[in-house]
Amino acid sequence: MGAREASGTQSRTDRADFQETSDPALMAAADRTADVKLLSYAELYLLWERQQWQTQELDFSRDREDWEQRISEEERFQRLYGLSSFFIGEQKVAEELGPIMRAAPTEDQKIFLCTQIADEARHVRFFERFYREVGVLESDQLSEMLVETSAHLNDNFSRLFDEMLKQRTDRLSAEPEDTEALVEAVTLYHMVIEGMLALTGQHFIMDFNEREDTLPGFVAGFQKVARDEHRHVAFGSVFLREKAREDDRYKRAIQRTLEESLPVADGVLSPPWAESEDFELFGYSLAETREFAGTCLMRRLKVIGL
Ligand SMILES: [Fe+2]
Ligand SMILES: [Fe+2]
Repeated sequence: MGAREASGTQSRTDRADFQETSDPALMAAADRTADVKLLSYAELYLLWERQQWQTQELDFSRDREDWEQRISEEERFQRLYGLSSFFIGEQKVAEELGPIMRAAPTEDQKIFLCTQIADEARHVRFFERFYREVGVLESDQLSEMLVETSAHLNDNFSRLFDEMLKQRTDRLSAEPEDTEALVEAVTLYHMVIEGMLALTGQHFIMDFNEREDTLPGFVAGFQKVARDEHRHVAFGSVFLREKAREDDRYKRAIQRTLEESLPVADGVLSPPWAESEDFELFGYSLAETREFAGTCLMRRLKVIGL
């Protein structure tokens, strides 16, 4: 990880409950060896049972004060890029996971993916509740909030979700036995969208709020979201490792999907208001953000066997 890697980020990824997920990105050993132990699908299910949480328990009263009084209008606008990408992203992944679950070849995989669908629904409710309690938007209804907040996204975001992910889940809906399409979908969903984009954004956003001492209710909930994401990525890692060992055809499918999607995912890291690559988002440069995302991805790919 980068020299300026935030101490907050480091202490979070060292947390026992994050480490428990067996996401390879959290293991320094994955820099040296591919031979690290990943949880099985059944173990990941049991971990899900132990890691439950409730959006209704979160207290956003300080967050509302911060949003209204301590965060300037310009900063609110800048923060809305990250918030909107997550809010809409959670809603889209919740909807697209059904075909992936149905196409998964074993019962243990399907059961885990059912728990993930429940998690993604909870993540949507988390954002909805934060937006409503803090008064981020004019709209108060979930469907209207999603439309209103989507104005803050960039074009790469819709290419990644509405074109690249949707093409693959549509294919799986029509042909659930197409394992190569399933490998592509899991690569895009679990490795690129969740592993590279979401977890990178989450760590920098939490770190920023902790340093600025803002939005404590949001940070408390977002930590639970991040822990869930590490568990989801751990599923993707064990699944892709299994498939890569099974057949070179699947290895090539993983590589192909990464080559196609990484430039688009990289474009999602730049907000639409950035006029060049020389901007800071949540106190970090684009180069620092890329370095963090790249290290996490390399560790996972090594463990998968690529
Ligand atoms: Fe999520
Ligand atoms: Fe997820």
